[in-house]
Formats: sequence, C-alpha cells, structure tokens
Amino acid sequence: KLEKIWLTIGIAMLFVFLAVLGVSAFAMGVKPPSEHHHQIDPAKVKETAPFDQPGIHQTGEKRFEAVMTAFTFGYAPDAMEVPVGSTVDFMVTSQDVVHGFEIPGTNVNMMIVPGEVSHVSHTFTQPGTYLILCNEYCGGAHEFMKTTLIVK
Ligand code: CUA
Repeated sequence: KLEKIWLTIGIAMLFVFLAVLGVSAFAMGVKPPSEHHHQIDPAKVKETAPFDQPGIHQTGEKRFEAVMTAFTFGYAPDAMEVPVGSTVDFMVTSQDVVHGFEIPGTNVNMMIVPGEVSHVSHTFTQPGTYLILCNEYCGGAHEFMKTTLIVK
C-alpha cells in the first residue's frame, strides 16, 4: 500500500518536472530575438549614432572601423584611406532600399538590408585603390553607386 503511494507521488513529480521543462522551453521559444540592438529605423539613419557621422577611424594598431551608410545612389563616406596591412571592420546600414557591398578582388560581398547593420572585416595587404560597389539592383543609377578605399 505504502509503495503504491510513493509510486504515485514519484509519477506526479515526474509530470510536474516535465511540465516545468515544457513551459520554460516554450517561454524561451517565444522570447524575441536578442538581435534588437542591430535594428535601426532606415528613415532615421542620419540621426542615429554612429551612422549620423559616417567615416573611418582607427581602433587599434593597423585596425580601423569604417562606419558607412548606403543610399540611392552612393555610400557615405565617399572616400577612405588606410595604410597597407590594415584590417578594416566595415559596419554598414541602408538609408532606403536593399543595396550591395562588394569589393572586387577581395572576398568582401554582402547585402545591405534596410533596418539592419551588416558587418564584414578585411585585411588589405596590397596597396591600391579599392572600389566598393553595389551589386544589388536598386534603381536607375545603380551601376554608378560606388565609393573608394585607398590603401597605401
Ligand atoms: Cu545600390 Cu544598386
């Protein structure tokens, strides 16, 4: 008789445990994504730091951060320069529609989606003038959308 009571309690505990597990898994599943700090209102890019001041700045020895915006039809800043051997951390968002961000001759190739911040890093070991081009059709002057990074 006593064993039966203990068995019933044991099974009840097991169910409670499973229920708690299920509820917490569900709660975790419905939690909003933690990428919220990457969201940005495209219409307010020009007023939102750090994109209110696009530009390139040094963050370490031979390391730079390029804060950039893409728009129809261009990029800000419209020219950048770094010493040979520098690693550049690009941080790019769009002010309007989907744009591309490609640096021919490197493996840098990403999509710039309005509302999101895209990141890519590249080390420039060869001097030269690197074109940064849009490779996503974005309107009439799409093919003229570009900026440059001078490495010397
Ligand atoms: Cu921007 Cu094509």
